[in-house]
Amino acid sequence: MCGIVGYVGPKSTLDVLLGGLRRLEYRGYDSAGVSVIDPVEGLLTRKKAGKLDALISEVTEHPLPISHIGIGHTRWATHGAPTDGNAHPHLGGPHQKLALIHNGIIENFAELKAELTAAGTRFSSETDTEVAAHLIAREFENTGDLPTAFASVVNRLHGAFTILVIHEDAPDVVLAARRNAPLVVGLGDGENFLGSDVAAFVEHTKRAISVGQDQIVTLRRDSVEIHTFAGDKVTPEEFVVDWDASAASKGGWSSFMAKEIADQPQAVADTLMGRLSSSGTVTLTEIDGLSKADIASLDRIMIVACGTASYAGDIAKYAIEKWARVPVQVELSHEFRYRDPIITPNTLVVAISQSGETMDTLMATRYAAERGAKVLAICNTQGATLARESDAVIYTHAGPEVAVASTKALVAQITAGYLLALFMAQQRDTLSSAAAGELGRELLTMPAKVSTVLERLEAVATLGRDMADAKSVLFLGRNVGFPVAMEGALKLKELAYIHAEGFAAGELKHGPIALIETGQPVIVIVPSPRDSETLHPKVISNIQEIRARGAIVIAIAEDGDQLVGDFAEHVIFVPQAEPMFAPLLTVIPLQRFALELSTAKGLDVDQPRNLAKSVTVE
Ligand code: AGP
Repeated sequence: MCGIVGYVGPKSTLDVLLGGLRRLEYRGYDSAGVSVIDPVEGLLTRKKAGKLDALISEVTEHPLPISHIGIGHTRWATHGAPTDGNAHPHLGGPHQKLALIHNGIIENFAELKAELTAAGTRFSSETDTEVAAHLIAREFENTGDLPTAFASVVNRLHGAFTILVIHEDAPDVVLAARRNAPLVVGLGDGENFLGSDVAAFVEHTKRAISVGQDQIVTLRRDSVEIHTFAGDKVTPEEFVVDWDASAASKGGWSSFMAKEIADQPQAVADTLMGRLSSSGTVTLTEIDGLSKADIASLDRIMIVACGTASYAGDIAKYAIEKWARVPVQVELSHEFRYRDPIITPNTLVVAISQSGETMDTLMATRYAAERGAKVLAICNTQGATLARESDAVIYTHAGPEVAVASTKALVAQITAGYLLALFMAQQRDTLSSAAAGELGRELLTMPAKVSTVLERLEAVATLGRDMADAKSVLFLGRNVGFPVAMEGALKLKELAYIHAEGFAAGELKHGPIALIETGQPVIVIVPSPRDSETLHPKVISNIQEIRARGAIVIAIAEDGDQLVGDFAEHVIFVPQAEPMFAPLLTVIPLQRFALELSTAKGLDVDQPRNLAKSVTVE
């Protein structure tokens, strides 16, 4: 996820671009850049790795002339480490007269890059993005018309992209295209704007247009034309932005956490993108370093992680053991290396980390590598220390997660765990291709089901606000619902600073049920009644046991569960899904419950006390 700004008009372009990038910095901050067109000097570009301040220093040291057309980008790296060379804008053509910025993933960049390389194009970055810059520049040289060249190329791109282009030989127009990534237009008087969201230009205008899927924008000072990729004219619908620049840094949301909860369908979809075919086959080129023979000879997988990431590991354990039949143990990173674990050359260590900088997890993987284990990272931060030190990396594509309490990174980690489990099952032939394909196709439906859950959160939000005075909340789950219960408890601890504890529901009678007294809130993740494991009746019995002792029960249950409503005071329903995938849905009401209860207590949900986004010390 990256920040994108485009401008054409009478203002100083650089001021507009940098101001917009500042408010979009939450979308990505590992490098930034701008390109402008000067009537005399032509296309000029400044770009720098690091946060936006590094770019500002660069343009201070190497000033740009006043210009009235330009594009700007702040990056969250997906392909290519965060370096000056990989920063956007990328330049196209032999004379570098074209500048291009991109948010998303061009899935078919490898074949396009091969085509260009065969034609003699030389690349200066490791990114997928640069391919589009060269293709459009070459097409412009062939056609002499930038809009035509632009449309021709964007029709060839697969994946997710918002792309903006300017060209020195067409100095009055910014072209933009949108497929599976956000793009909005800002409408001014004698000026017009583009952005990945309205935060890019809301200080200049509140009149906006949302660009639709597979649409192209031709933006000039006094005109905005929108066409489909096929060339049909589109009559856009204008809307007025109803919040001001101060809220802009969070994209209009009350908190980064609220925004990131809402980003979860995209986080799941982007993590699946390019790795799961429509037939349900998983491709993980990132772990080509682990051969089929390596995977077949694995005697054990040890998952090391901390906090929320460790719960993603717990869920991955269920999936890998069930489908790939490899023994898996999940270890808290900080415990792992102090217990003298048994590690053999056939042990695979999987390290899960959003930041890739958690020192406990880094030390655990270094310990394992020193003892001969291969290390596979599941990481959300391109180029992070963990990624650089591992034998292979599966990047999650949740985009930058700013709130300390992890939400979208978690669902992306869980998604990556499913992909790994299915891939290993394919490699080890432990699932029939029919069964693996069916699971893969079901996984493809999860982003839409996550979106459905987001539309049903008002009731649980109200419960969170109503329970603001609660001194303790318990969470129960079974099977893959157990890690979800643990995660729900962690969210409440770290956001509302109250006692919260997750239990395996079956553990209740072995002690924890003594905690139940009248009025004790208990959130129960209820397994699917359709699941062959018949866990459902057991959890219903658990609900009856705690209700009999005065608990207030909030159940998270599956659509169509006819029984749960007879026993729980409150039921939050989520869509039916493959039971193994249910955590992607059942965790979301728990996130919103914790956010609302914390907000009702007047606490800072984005920066809870005593916590840091990345624990870089042991
Ligand atoms: C989760 O909400 C917390 N922020 C914390 O438990 C976090 O998941 C843990 O510190 C691991 O961080 P990492 O994923 O960056 O390694």
